[in-house]
Order: sequence, then C-alpha cells, then structure tokens
Amino acid sequence: MSVAKSLPHDAAALHVTGEARYVDDIPTPRGCLHLAFGLSEIANGHVRDLNLTQVRNSKDVVAVFTAADLPFANDVSPSAHDEPLLSTGRVHYVGQPLFLVVARSHRAARVAARKAQATYDSDPPILTLDDALAINSRFEEGPRIWHAGDADQALSLAPHQLSGQFEIGGQEHFYLEGQAALALPQEDGGCHAHASTQHPTEIQHKVAEAIGVPMHSVRVETRRMGGGFGGKESQGNALAVACAIAARATGQACKMRYDRDDDMIITGKRHAFRIAYEVGFDAAGRVEGLVFTHLVNCGWAQDLSLPVADRAMLHADNAYHLPHIRIESHRLKTNLQSATAFRGFGGPQGMLGVERVMDHIAHHLGLDPIEVRMRNYYPAAQEGGAAPRPLGASPRGISSQKEAMTPYGMPVVDFELHGMTNALLHSAEYGQRRHEIAAWNAAQPHLKRGLGFSPVKFGISFTLTHLNQAGALVHVYQDGSIHLNHGGTEMGQGLFQKVAQVAASRFGVDLQRVKITATDTAKVPNTSATAASSGSDLNGMAVRNACDEIKMRMATFLATAHHVPVEEIMFANGQVQIGPRQLSFAEAARDCYEGRISLSATGFYKTPDLQWDRIKGQGRPFYYFAYGAALTEVVVDQLTGENRILRADILHDAGASLNPALDIGQIEGGYVQGAGWLTTEELVWDDAGRLRTHAPSTYKIPACSDAPDVFNVALWDQANPAKTVYRSKAVGEPPFMLGISAFLALSDAISAFGSEYPALNAPATPEEVWHACQRLRHGV
Ligand code: MTE
Ligand code: MOS
Repeated sequence: MSVAKSLPHDAAALHVTGEARYVDDIPTPRGCLHLAFGLSEIANGHVRDLNLTQVRNSKDVVAVFTAADLPFANDVSPSAHDEPLLSTGRVHYVGQPLFLVVARSHRAARVAARKAQATYDSDPPILTLDDALAINSRFEEGPRIWHAGDADQALSLAPHQLSGQFEIGGQEHFYLEGQAALALPQEDGGCHAHASTQHPTEIQHKVAEAIGVPMHSVRVETRRMGGGFGGKESQGNALAVACAIAARATGQACKMRYDRDDDMIITGKRHAFRIAYEVGFDAAGRVEGLVFTHLVNCGWAQDLSLPVADRAMLHADNAYHLPHIRIESHRLKTNLQSATAFRGFGGPQGMLGVERVMDHIAHHLGLDPIEVRMRNYYPAAQEGGAAPRPLGASPRGISSQKEAMTPYGMPVVDFELHGMTNALLHSAEYGQRRHEIAAWNAAQPHLKRGLGFSPVKFGISFTLTHLNQAGALVHVYQDGSIHLNHGGTEMGQGLFQKVAQVAASRFGVDLQRVKITATDTAKVPNTSATAASSGSDLNGMAVRNACDEIKMRMATFLATAHHVPVEEIMFANGQVQIGPRQLSFAEAARDCYEGRISLSATGFYKTPDLQWDRIKGQGRPFYYFAYGAALTEVVVDQLTGENRILRADILHDAGASLNPALDIGQIEGGYVQGAGWLTTEELVWDDAGRLRTHAPSTYKIPACSDAPDVFNVALWDQANPAKTVYRSKAVGEPPFMLGISAFLALSDAISAFGSEYPALNAPATPEEVWHACQRLRHGV
C-alpha cells in the first residue's frame, strides 16, 4: 500500500531545481499586459482629488481604471461586501488600492502607479486597540461572550487569585512566492484564470461578479503556491479580479504580481491580540474559575475576522478542563491592513492566553509548570474519566463522568495528552535537565537558560459547518493510468502527494500510475478553501470515494465476465485478482473499457456529526482534536536581550500518518514558524499608520540557522478514533502552536533574573526580553 509510506513530495525535485511552475512562470500569450495598483498614502479619510494624467501618459501604459471605470461589482471581500477592489473615495489604510494601471511591462505599470497626484482630507487614524475601544470602532454590535458554569462565583470562591494582561503581535505570512494571478480572456466574454490561491472557487465567484458573467464562464486553475499559510485564502481576490477586468477590457492576457514591499503593505496579516485574564485556583494549581478578555485588532475590513476571533475563543481552553469560564471577545476595527487567516486561524492566540495562565499559577505556587498543566488536563481518553473535582461537575448539568466538556459543550473523548506528555518528558529527560539548568543558572550572572512546555489540542473542522465538504474527479484510462483531481490546493504542505497515495492504495497500484493534476474549478466545482488543516481529511475521502466507485464498477464487470463472486475480486500489487486468475491493472482497465464500463467517477465527502451555533457558542464544531506537545530550551542574555533556542523536543499526533516524512516536515516547519511569530517577527507601524517593516531587511523571519540545534521530532503514531481517511489526522496547523513553548521558555529564563512572574509581550524580540529583564530588576 502507498499510504503510510515516507515518500518525497511529488514536486520535490522540481522545487529544488527551480523547474516547478508558479503563476509567474507560466508562459503567457504574446501581448500579455501587466498590472499594478496605485495605493493610498493616508490611513483614514477621503481622496479629495486624484490626478492621474501623468499615470496615463507614463511610458507603455495601456489603460488606467478607477472605481468609476469598473463595469460590474467593485468588491473583493470574502464575507461582508465591505472591501472594494478600488476605493470609491473613502480610504481606510495606507496601502489601500485607489486605482489600477495596465501596462506593457511589470516595471512600466509600477513606475506609472507612482506618478499619481492625490490630495486627501485626512482624519486621525484609528491604529491601536485603545484607539478603537475609545470610539467603539468594532465589527459586530458588541463583544461576543461565551461561558460555561459560573466563572465569577468560582473565581471569588477560589483560595488563590491572579490576574494579568499581555500583548500578542500579528505576523506577516512571508510566503516565498508573493501574490500572483494571470487572466486569459475567452472568446465568449468568459475568463480562464491562473491564481496563486488556496481558494480557487472564491476567485471564480469574485471574478464572475466583477465581469458580470455566471460562474460557469470563469475557470480558475491552481497548480501550486509557493506557500500560502492562510494568506492566500482571501488576499488573492484583488489580483485575480483586477486581471479579469483588465483582460475583459483589453482583450489581452493580463498578469499581476505584487513585489515584496507591496505585498506586505497591501495584504492582511495575523490578528494582533491583547489578552487579559483573571484566574482563581486551589493550592494544587487546579483552575476553579477563569475569565478571559480578548481584544482583537481586525484592521479595516471584516474579511475572516469573525471566525478567526471565534477560533481564538474555541481554543481558550487548549488542553484544560475548565468548567467555569467566561470568554469575552472584542473584534475591533482599525485603519490597518485587514487582518486575515494565518496558520492556526486565531487558535494560537487563544492558546497562548491559557498557557500564560498555567505558567503564572505554577510560578505563584512554586510548582512545576508541567505538573500544574497535567492536573488541569482533560481526562484521558481510555480511563473512564478523571477523578471528581471540587468545582469540576460538568457544565450545564450533564453529569456523565466519562465526558468532560469543553466550554462550548463538546465532549472531549479522545484526549491523548497524558500519555504523550509523559512520553515526551521521558524522552527529553525533563527532570534531569531542570536540575542541570537550575545549577547552571545559579552560576551565571548574565546568562540564564529556561525551559518551556506547551501542549496543543486543536479542533479539526471548519467552524462554518457547510465548508466541511469536498469533491474529487478520478479517471482510469484504458492503459491503466489514473488521472487524479480534487478540490484541494497544493501550497507545499504535500496534500497532492498524500491524496495520490490514497488513490494508489485504493487501486492497489504504485504511485507512478497516478497523475496529479492542477486544482481546476472546471473539474471539481464548489470547493472550500484548502484551510483549517482539513485538506487531506476532506479531499482524501472524496478521492477514496471516487476510486471505490470505479473499483466497484470494474469488479462487478470482471466478476460477471469471469464467473466469480464479486467478493473474490482483489486490487493489490498492481494486479487484479479475479478468483484464481490474475490480470495486471492495465489489462483489467482495458477489458473494462472494451466491456463499455465507465472508468470515470466523481467522489464526494462531507464531515459527519457536526453542529455548531456560533452566536451561543454551543455545539460540536469539530470532528476530532489533533494533539501535540513540545519542550523548548532557550538561553537569554540580560545585558542585551539576545536569545537563542537551544533545543526542542516534540511529540505530535498525526493519527495513522498518511506520509510520516511529510508530516514531520509540517511539524518542523510549523514549530519554527510559530516560534518566529513569538520571538523575532515584529510588525511596526508609525503614528500615521504606515507599515515600517515591509521587507526582509526590517522584518525577521526565522532562517535555517534559527531552527534549534537539537531538534527531536517524533510522531505519536496512533490511529485516529474518528473515522478519517486511513485514520490519519490533520497536521497542517496544529504544530504551529508548539512554538508557544519557545515563548514560555524565554519567560522561564527571564524569571531566573528576579522573583516575580515576568511580564512579557509577544513577540519577545531582544528588545522586549531586555525590557522584561529590566522590569523584573526594578520591580515594575
Ligand atoms: N505548509 C506549507 N509548506 N505551506 C503552507 O502554505 N499552510 C498551512 C499548513 N501547512 C502551509 C503549510 C495552513 S495555514 C494550512 S490551513 C494547511 O497547511 C492547509 O493544508 P492542509 O489542509 O492540506 O493541511
Ligand atoms: Mo490555514 S490559516 O486555515 O489557511
């Protein structure tokens, strides 16, 4: 069988030789035109006058569009129709597209776009959470509040109380391939687009609206992205729509790609949060009552902010059973780039809140932080539930002891972190290293080492329930070769390879027989974004169903032709066993073709058992949970704030892995990206709302040399109890949150310089670490 094998990424050789084709590499027809946006220079206000004469007269310019020139819809929002492609006069952030230049070269378009003369009526920009709160600038009428039990009462009755607050910065996606799209006009007014997008159907939908045709007249293809990380769920709409409009107007192919600075200035990033907490707990560190307030900086347009903020609330419990909790979430509207999806989709911010709480409790009580965590864990899956807890009766009167409920009323029945944590502590020699580090720290005046542990429990499924569906199209040709297509997109995560392994396994053939093809809205319609880590779960199942349909037709025909019961037809090792006889898969396909059997099928899958009410915050939003645990060791220098990750040990649960090599790649990459978010990646806007960190010169993503020198990553290889494809688990986002352990390790190291629990904001850059050390020393 092909599944469970550590086969390389299907395009690995193309990636490393530079032969892999991205949108900008696709050969274009003669006369292809190039696009660039002219951008707003102010953060808030109105355009008083926009003089585009010099833009139009600029060399090689073919056309210039403003909002008034758009033929149909002026909207690239994925949600609330609040995001015009081109400003209609009101501007909401520095970098908002005001006009569109179409020119004979990429450079000519960019040069011309700089020649506009705009004057503005400026209003003071709303940039910070405090600015937004002060004038009640928000999405939704008020905060969203979910609760379980009675948090206020539990808090006040608890023997110990603590409170705290900290900032969590956003994050630039920094996909290596920037946003890009190419539109080819069609003879009937339709459009064929290539887009670097996680969501081809969304592009199809927005392009159709923008050029005034039904969706059937727009075809979107995506072979691969050079990284998406959530930044290509909605942020590619503007480019593809602009190309389609320009292609319709000029009759020429049109291409647009942002250069790195424009990409960072125009597109949305991870949501910045401020999290405040009040917690009540007992002498053993068990949480009795907890109140969280999330302030979320959503930027100027709604985009995906509501589900992102929801997911932060849904992960405020992380791995801990918290029967008395209230979570209040404020979705604030500011004059910044519209924050968007980013790996974890709010989950990381929500989890960081409760992980700080656990460390704060442990510090206060002088207990080991991992011990405190384990005391608060959900009960283990097989143990028949945890011991009864003082205030731990399940919320909402559900009394089954076996089922500990999440704050949103979903029973946690597959909790694996007790076993995983013990295994990790053992393999990482936690106890011994704790002692060694304490001794080392005692002997060092300026350097301190620290350890941070964080578990992950991440809910798998889209919280917008209807998105949990997928389609596939599979053809078997008469030579026995197989054409595979499904609605998922490839962004480096290895989805195509994993799904091809599923197809090869179903037919019992080797992988070389299976041709992986580009995502194409004309082959599989109405797809969901490849997001929420659900790509292999959803598309793997849809492909399995399509393959099984064809296999059943083949088996039925062969059984009749050879006079054997259909149960005696087996597909394995490239052969079809028909009772006592054997045919190669190719011979079987040829016979079926000659027997006039249809060898093409669609497949469909929808995730079962989901129901979710996001207003009440109640239900079962997730099909299952993915788990992970990480222990990180760091060293910090209090004189400079400089710091390094020395070692990371990770145990991650990918279920029965479809491809262990690819899954380990996701875990390593996710961890490093998560640690980067919380340590080196800092976004800085000036007082006028201009992003000052818009290139790698000023924005520091982790390099290879920033990965831990000692990096032990292992899979917790157990079948998923939920009925997923080959009992595997989603792995795209969950490991990102293991990076939280790096932040906690820095806090642990800093705490060795004083006696208080250190106040520490994310990202913990050297400056922030230095400030945290100073605050500790001076007791502020
Ligand atoms: N891995 C790579 N190499 N590149 C990416 O862009 N995106 C992540 C994750 N892993 C990403 C990645 C995000 S945000 C998601 S939601 C998942 O991959 C999507 O793919 P999957 O559902 O197939 O896991
Ligand atoms: Mo991933 S943030 O769900 O694209």
